[in-house]
Amino acid sequence: MAHKSDLIASDIEGYLKQQEEKSLLRFITCGSVDDGKSTLIGRLLYESKLIFEDQLSALEADSRKMGTQGDKLDFALLVDGLASEREQGITIDVAYRFFSTEKRKFIVADTPGHEQYTRNMATGASTADLAIILIDARKGILTQTRRHSFIVSRLGIANVVLAINKMDLVDYSQQVFSDIEIAYRAFAQELGGIEHITAIPMSALEGDNIVERSANMDWYTGPVLLDHLETVGLRDTAQTKAFRLPVQWVNRPDLDFRGFAGFIPSGAVKPGDRIKVLPSAKESTVKRIVTMDGDLDEAVAGQSVTLTLEDEIDISRGDMICAAGDPAEVANQFETTILWMADEPMYPGRPYLLKIGAATVNATITRPKYRVDVNTLAHEAAHELHLNEVGVCNISLDRTIAFDAYDDNRETGGFILIDKITNATVGMGMIHFALRRSANVHWQALDVDRNTRAAIKGQKPVVLWFTGLSGSGKSTIANIVDRKLTALGAHTMLLDGDNVRHGLNKDLGFTDADRVENIRRVAEVSKLMTDAGLITLVSFISPFRAERRLARELIGEDEYKVIHVDTPLEVAEARDVKGLYKKARAGQIKNFTGIDSPYELPENAAMTIDTTSTSPEESAEAVLKKLVEWGKIPG
Ligand code: ADX
Repeated sequence: MAHKSDLIASDIEGYLKQQEEKSLLRFITCGSVDDGKSTLIGRLLYESKLIFEDQLSALEADSRKMGTQGDKLDFALLVDGLASEREQGITIDVAYRFFSTEKRKFIVADTPGHEQYTRNMATGASTADLAIILIDARKGILTQTRRHSFIVSRLGIANVVLAINKMDLVDYSQQVFSDIEIAYRAFAQELGGIEHITAIPMSALEGDNIVERSANMDWYTGPVLLDHLETVGLRDTAQTKAFRLPVQWVNRPDLDFRGFAGFIPSGAVKPGDRIKVLPSAKESTVKRIVTMDGDLDEAVAGQSVTLTLEDEIDISRGDMICAAGDPAEVANQFETTILWMADEPMYPGRPYLLKIGAATVNATITRPKYRVDVNTLAHEAAHELHLNEVGVCNISLDRTIAFDAYDDNRETGGFILIDKITNATVGMGMIHFALRRSANVHWQALDVDRNTRAAIKGQKPVVLWFTGLSGSGKSTIANIVDRKLTALGAHTMLLDGDNVRHGLNKDLGFTDADRVENIRRVAEVSKLMTDAGLITLVSFISPFRAERRLARELIGEDEYKVIHVDTPLEVAEARDVKGLYKKARAGQIKNFTGIDSPYELPENAAMTIDTTSTSPEESAEAVLKKLVEWGKIPG
């Protein structure tokens, strides 16, 4: 048995190869803080001999402190090490720990238990075959237990071990155990999706029913934990499912062959197999399966390979190569379940990046249908999703992708959502099905194009996007610019927040979610205005960076000019043209920008106007000058 101190990261693969004949069980432990997770994992590692841990884990640093006793680690020190990571708040998301016994090898995803770490739990769970849900026998089922179980069920983990821990602290009472078991089974029944539940009474600290059958609970006749982990049935479905290869890399043309490389999440492939590439739907035949160690006769789920094809077809990164006879689906709109994992809520209409397989696309949540209360499983109306909330939402993408429904294929039906500004993972989700709408609404090619429309007007379309606090002077300046442009014979349109809120956006208020939608709509309208060839002036507070960025991406860098009307809050408040600041200070208006709702300063304004030193007339002149400079109007 190799010892962890003898191993480095690069040995992981080699070691697992040696152990290839043993089956692999991936599992996850879920529990609240103090349920005894560290103790349990520590006990398993201790009893079965630790092989090695993820080198990236912060525990690695601690491991040197851990004493060893012959081939085994010191149990108390080991548990200390596992627990201290969490207490110190070390920023690991998931630590993968490897161990093996005579019968099987294991990878356990160890995740911090704090409420805010549901996302880590979900990350670990997405590859697991089994989940150990830990319960403190004294506390019973908690909200966190229900939340974790919900996620586990939706992620398609069929096997749950209900580890009712700390039995020593309830006098090893059979009554306590069976009350919890009955309540949990009832909850799981309602939840659906969990096929097998094995409830085990244990004390991880004392070692009861972990590896050895406990002498303290002779009323319990079920399996002890390690036995169960060693023998639980694995449905190794990934290999029996249809072949999929999300294309991660297309080999450089300077190589002597064109190959398509990636990780096979499901199915198997052989040279001579017919394949279909999605979303293009082009077909070909597999010529070779190339790996670092030579060509293969067959490749299966879990391997990373490069395929070459008989025909020259156009394939790019993010496409999916599928079995021709059983291809994935393609669509750009879906119904999904989303678990929100960020502090900042999820707002419908805000753009995110969606990563599925090897593809990354722009995505917007078009409609949250409902939120699920994890305690009661009730569906609640929801306009947004907050940290740790789970909801069913429609999503729309800016291009078509290949996918499978999550229920059919975990690997090709799951996705993550990424914040476009911070690049942080903010949510994860599962595709239920494609919305038929996406296949039925087509883009209509028009005979008169935007260039023609602009040329007739003798101008170049542009959006002048005035942003700034209420009362900063946006509308005043935009109005003068509009008048001057019209006098010069330009074709313009002015969209003013107050006015648009009387019509198109009269259903929207001033919550963050409504402001997101307000700006999304006006960005779409401005885009239509530029298609019409108009010089468009937008005067909206537009307080959020994310939506200004959405507008930039929608309208295009060259035709989107942010003009920051930079008036300090004190000045805008002192002017208080509409008397709104006074009301906001008196608490009569809620969510007022600058008072109890944020204004995020523009980072790359094309122009900044300081209204404390420049008059509206001068500011308008400066804008016109810029328009000439940008080549939008003649000088
Ligand atoms: S935005 O934030 O969604 O871009 P928008 O520009 O459409 O706002 O509307 C702002 C105008 O609505 C303000 O100039 C003000 O006249 C009015 N208003 C009413 N309530 C509020 C509020 N809570 N916050 C800001 N503006 C408000």
